[in-house]
Formats: sequence, structure tokens, C-alpha cells
Amino acid sequence: MSIQEKINQYTEEINNWTPHSQQEVENYRLKFLVAKGIVKGLFEEFKNVSSEEKRLLGKVLNEFKQLAEARYAETKDLFEVSADSSKDSKEQDLTLPGPGFEIGTRHPLSLVRKEIVEIFKKLGFIVAEGPEIEDDWHNFTALNFPEEHPARDMQDTFFIRKQEGNDIALRTHTSSVQVRMMESGTPPFRAIMPGRVYRNEAISARAHCFFHQIEGLYIDEGVSFADLKQTLYHFVQELFGEGTKVRFRPSYFPFTEPSAEMDISCTICKGAGCNMCKYTGWVEILGCGMVDPNVLTNSKIDAKKYTGFAFGMGIERITNLKYEIKDLRLFSENDIRFLRQFETETI
Ligand code: PHE
Repeated sequence: MSIQEKINQYTEEINNWTPHSQQEVENYRLKFLVAKGIVKGLFEEFKNVSSEEKRLLGKVLNEFKQLAEARYAETKDLFEVSADSSKDSKEQDLTLPGPGFEIGTRHPLSLVRKEIVEIFKKLGFIVAEGPEIEDDWHNFTALNFPEEHPARDMQDTFFIRKQEGNDIALRTHTSSVQVRMMESGTPPFRAIMPGRVYRNEAISARAHCFFHQIEGLYIDEGVSFADLKQTLYHFVQELFGEGTKVRFRPSYFPFTEPSAEMDISCTICKGAGCNMCKYTGWVEILGCGMVDPNVLTNSKIDAKKYTGFAFGMGIERITNLKYEIKDLRLFSENDIRFLRQFETETI
């Protein structure tokens, strides 16, 4: 066989070679790459050919050598086992299942938010969101907060940047999203806006520096306080069960007129009196009212043509009522033993 023929044959052999063990890789090395191996052998033979043939074969032979070496370089580490596990590698049963890993669970606040969102979605409300870092205009001024209103105070608000006429702060409520929504389009608006809000409070069982709200907004021609009451009454029946009573108490918010707070009959003692309702039989769950015409005007909505209502509720508060959780801090500690208690359906 000529050198050229041998090279052709071995090239084919190397190209078709697939090792299955370290031993096969070693056999390959012994066959092709050692001092008495095929590659060296071919170079020996090459010395004896005519100088004319050398010109033709030199390049081919070098390429073959590179191929043989490259194939070895590719495969030599494939089956190598690290020193410490090599000893018992034979006893390892690779068909055994791997160690399990624990998955988390949906957070009770997410579960309750989802429940609330689903109820309003069925009434035709869409879900909208806004930024947590907000400017003074959307968080306060457009919402009709007077210049000296205590809610603007440093005590309550986390300011990020003082800025001429439009400070930047962490939003203190989701009502800022109402303004963004109204600025961005034309009525009718029917939306709920869930999100995280921040207030500068000392952390305790009853207060936290952040919590979650769901805002509701409905603006159209001829929307009345009766629509507000009926919508929220329906919501309460869906969330807490048929027969839950509601009552509205007059209240004040700068951005609604008239304003109210809504109580429901205590879900724990059913009105008989307990710790949760401080023996009154009622618990407050949200603030609401008819959107103040000033807010509509600030958001470029024609206040002569359109009216509407808004409401805002704390998700923590509703979750506390549903699950009788007494300490707000549990919600942000991420203790899986706490979190696992709430999910009933599987993801
Ligand atoms: N933004 C109010 C709060 O945080 C709640 C509210 C929303 C009241 C909408 C009325 C209308 O307390």
C-alpha cells in the first residue's frame, strides 16, 4: 500500500471512530501517537520516497498528523473521573433519581390579590399598573392634596429626591395610578390597579414600611354613588361569602367627594364581638368615594361630562381577615413554613 493509500484509510478510520471508554481512548493513543505508532511510522516511510513525491505528500501527511492529534485532544478528557470519585464510580447507580429540590409556594398576598382581581375582572375591570417611584404630581398634587397636607410630611413619605415643584418619592398609595390612567386616555375607564406602596413607619406587628394596595377606578358618563355601593357590595359577597354585611361611614380623602370608609361585618365572630373587630362587630376594609372633579380636571378629563368612583384597599388587611394573621411582619420574612399554609390548589 502506498503512503497516500494508508493515509486515506487511516483518515477514514479516525473520522469514524467514536470512543466509549477511557480504555478505547488509550488504545487509540497507543495505535497512532506513540513513538512506534502509525503517525511516526508514516513519517519514517516518508523519508524514503522520491523528492518529487515528497513535495506532493508532505502537506497531506502533516494534515493527517494534525487530525490524529486533534482527535486525541478532543477525547482524552471525556471519560476521566476526578480523583476522589474515581474509586467508587463503579458502584454508582446512574439510574437512581437525583436529590429532590424543594419548590416554593405562592405567597398568601399573591393568592388574595389574585382572588380580588378575578372578582373585578368579571365585572369588566382591566388591570393596570404604575411606577413605585413616583413624582409629587401623581402621588399628591393631581390628587388634590393641599400644599400643607400632613400626608406629604417627611414623617410619612420616603423622599428620594427633592426637586423644584415636583419631588420624587416612593408612592404612598396606588391612587397615583388613577391619575396616570386618566392622563393616558379618554373615558370610560374601568380598572383595578394592584401594587406595592411605602410609608415611613416603624415596623411592628401592626405597621410596616411597605404594604400592598388595590386601587379601583370607574369613570364614565352618569356613574353614581349607587354604582359604587353596589359594586363594592358585590365584591364583598364574592370575597367573604354571601350574607356578609357592609356599611359605609362618611370619611375624608382629598381626591374623593363625598368620601367613605367601608366596613364589613366581622368575618371571625360574625358580628358577635371579638379581638379582631375590637368587640364592635365591624372591621374596616377600604376607603372610597366619588372622584373629586378637581382630580378629573387635573387629569385632563371633562369634569362636566364625566363622573366616577374610586376605592383603595390594603391587601394585607384583607389577608389578615381571611386567614386570621396577627403579625404583619410574617408577610415579608419569607419563612417557607408560614407561606406553605395557604396554597390549596397546585400550581
Ligand atoms: N388612597 C387611599 C389610602 O391609601 C385609599 C383610597 C383610594 C380612598 C381611593 C378613596 C379612593 O388610604
